[in-house]
Amino acid sequence: MLWERPQCVRVRREDTGRECYSNRDALLDDYTPKELVGRDAELQQYHSALQPAIYGEQPNNIFLYGKAGVGKTAATRFLLNKLQGDAEQYDDLQVNSQLVNCDGTDSSYQVAVELVNRLRDIEDQISESGYSRSQVYRLMWNEFDDLQGIVLIVLDEVDHLEDDSILYQLSRARENQHLEKSRVAVIGISNDLSYRKRLSPKVRSSLCERSISFSTYNAQELQQVLSQRRDVAFKEDTVDDAVVGLCSAYGARESGDARKALDLLLKAGDVARDENAEEVLERHVHEGRKLLEREEVAQGIANLNEQERLMVYAVATYAAEGSTPVRSTDLYERYESLARSSGRDPLSSRWMREHLDELAMLGIISVEKRNEGAMGGMYRVHELEQDLKVVVDALKETIDNAGLHASVRQVAESD
Ligand SMILES: Nc1ncnc2c1ncn2[C@@H]1O[C@H](COP(=O)(O)OP(=O)(O)O)[C@@H](O)[C@H]1O
Ligand SMILES: [Mg+2]
Repeated sequence: MLWERPQCVRVRREDTGRECYSNRDALLDDYTPKELVGRDAELQQYHSALQPAIYGEQPNNIFLYGKAGVGKTAATRFLLNKLQGDAEQYDDLQVNSQLVNCDGTDSSYQVAVELVNRLRDIEDQISESGYSRSQVYRLMWNEFDDLQGIVLIVLDEVDHLEDDSILYQLSRARENQHLEKSRVAVIGISNDLSYRKRLSPKVRSSLCERSISFSTYNAQELQQVLSQRRDVAFKEDTVDDAVVGLCSAYGARESGDARKALDLLLKAGDVARDENAEEVLERHVHEGRKLLEREEVAQGIANLNEQERLMVYAVATYAAEGSTPVRSTDLYERYESLARSSGRDPLSSRWMREHLDELAMLGIISVEKRNEGAMGGMYRVHELEQDLKVVVDALKETIDNAGLHASVRQVAESD
């Protein structure tokens, strides 16, 4: 019955149209939620530190810190939007805020140029070179003064800054009387908890006028964050509370990072979509987690240098042979021969030991010390900590260069 086939295809298309997402973009990183949940204490402190701005008074310099994914950037965007909205109700109050991410704009000079250009028309932009730093600062003060109001400069991921000159300048603008008609304050945000200690004392004291710490999320708070996002991203009744609870529990156990928990919900949604499922189920979350782990391992291996990858390759060959844990001495021999066949000079065994420790910290391999008493002495053994197939796939280029070792042939060639 030939006529059935096209009909069957049509039904499948309709099924795809019934996918569970209503707005998948709401799970991506650049989405700003309308409301923040689970951050009441932090938001209150933050809001009160910004409060003088609404009275047209000098706002505080603020330093915000906490691990990645705990809502620092989201809270900042949220409060600045709110402040902007509040300010619009007053005719005589101008609030201008600029958020610069220092990851990529990593010198004080670049930040100052960026700020000048953001406040200028397109035809008056300045170039990234050709001015001295003090000239660029002068242009920056002029732009700020022209705003005749409150200027809030947010330097996100501020630990990427190579020098703290801009922090000094912005946080001391008041004392140094750089401005006549505007008042500026700086908000520095950092994931790096030791950053504050690294600042010079004079910058620290002025930047950290108010310090606000963002703690990691617990499972209950993540559940609030994810439920809110589920309601925006998915159609009704396609993701139940158990699925949200599972993503939140994993998220809280692993890092308390909302970004990672949201990534997991997204991955689970994608797995469900690929299956044409109408609902996201717990098994989709488990599958999504596996996929994310794989991506993480692949990324971790991609970030290693070639010598380190050769060492991982050497461990993988032993794992494929079923001969792990393997002793360092045996591992060194294989690493040496793989390095030679890829046309590289092998590094010393001491170097290998140090790097094996680093690979262990990344969770790619393990290092275990053994002591066989007076006869055997102390030695170290290693195992592969990640799935062999995932590791071999991630090592593809290294394997191409060093040659396919017989032990991993089957794994490398399987799908
Ligand atoms: N309290 C919250 N409510 C809703 N979404 C949140 C909350 N905290 C974090 N998020 C979301 O989690 C992700 C990471 O948050 P972000 O503010 O970028 O973290 P940080 O800047 O601390 O690294 C973003 O997608 C953000 O929208
Ligand atoms: Mg951030």
